Amino acid sequence: MNSALGAFPAIRMRRNRHDAWTRRLVAENRLSVDDLIWPIFIMEGSGTVSDVGSMPGVQRVTLDRLLAHVAPAVELGVPAIALFPMTPAEKKDAEGTEARNPDNLMCRAARLLKREFPELGLIGDVALDPYTDHGHDGVIRDGYVANDESLEVLTAQALVQSQAGIDVVAPSDMMDGRVAAIRATLDGAGLVHTRIMSYAAKYASAFYGPFRDAVGSGGTLKGDKKTYQMDPANSDEAMREVALDLAEGADMVMVKPGMPYLDIVRRVKDRFAVPTYAYQVSGEYAMIMAAVQNGWLDREKAMMESLMAFKRAGADGVLSYFAVDAARVLKDR
Ligand code: PBG
Repeated sequence: MNSALGAFPAIRMRRNRHDAWTRRLVAENRLSVDDLIWPIFIMEGSGTVSDVGSMPGVQRVTLDRLLAHVAPAVELGVPAIALFPMTPAEKKDAEGTEARNPDNLMCRAARLLKREFPELGLIGDVALDPYTDHGHDGVIRDGYVANDESLEVLTAQALVQSQAGIDVVAPSDMMDGRVAAIRATLDGAGLVHTRIMSYAAKYASAFYGPFRDAVGSGGTLKGDKKTYQMDPANSDEAMREVALDLAEGADMVMVKPGMPYLDIVRRVKDRFAVPTYAYQVSGEYAMIMAAVQNGWLDREKAMMESLMAFKRAGADGVLSYFAVDAARVLKDR
């Protein structure tokens, strides 16, 4: 007994941290390849793989390069990829007409991927921003992103995607009632197995900037998305959004962005106990990579720690631009 310091600690938390084997035994959460969803960017044309400037290591690919681009994800066992199209300006208009074209880039990509990799899950983003010349997720009436008119285009978009082989439609538009409308449309067409992963709690965030560069909607976006995406100040509101989407038939729900919103992930998981996903968005990826490029962060450690944090918060899976690299690390361990 050292009287100057008082009694020795009866409980020493550090004992269980003393060796790698105990640290493994007491680990509460694990990240596995089964938790990873890889977002990828596709573009029109051929023979091109182009870098996204604000997302070092992330590329857009033309369809003739798509299978080779996706093959490593399939080999590593990544369960699903999420597809995002870059639409050339001449195919954009105010109504997002190209979104409902059964031969648009997304649909062609889905058919190609399903034929080559039938076991790979395909997630299709449902929102109009890649297709509108104003960059909004819905159609505009009297200067306002109109809810019910947008639903008509969004349901048509979900339908052509599903018919082309998209397994999971993921509405990221934040219109009210979209999940019910999409479910009814899909069921009416006999597409009862198509799942809906709703971006239930999607915030009007500054962290989507690099994504908008990647799909080319950043420069065209007029104004902001605050009349439909959520206010970052709110948390209870996310509970209502998730409850509604589940009541309307969502099979899985998502919180987006990810790292600054882990409190929301935890609340959703605790309250609803449903398959819950989080999106580590483009700006989060860009932040980590900018620090890595400056030599301020270790890429692999920062990547793996950030992904583990989603698991700890209760996420069942994470959409991450790091997905394939993380799968590689997990395999080598
Ligand atoms: C489209 C959509 C966005 C993202 C995914 N789907 C952009 C936005 O809402 O403006 C962002 C993803 C990312 O930043 O990685 N509605």
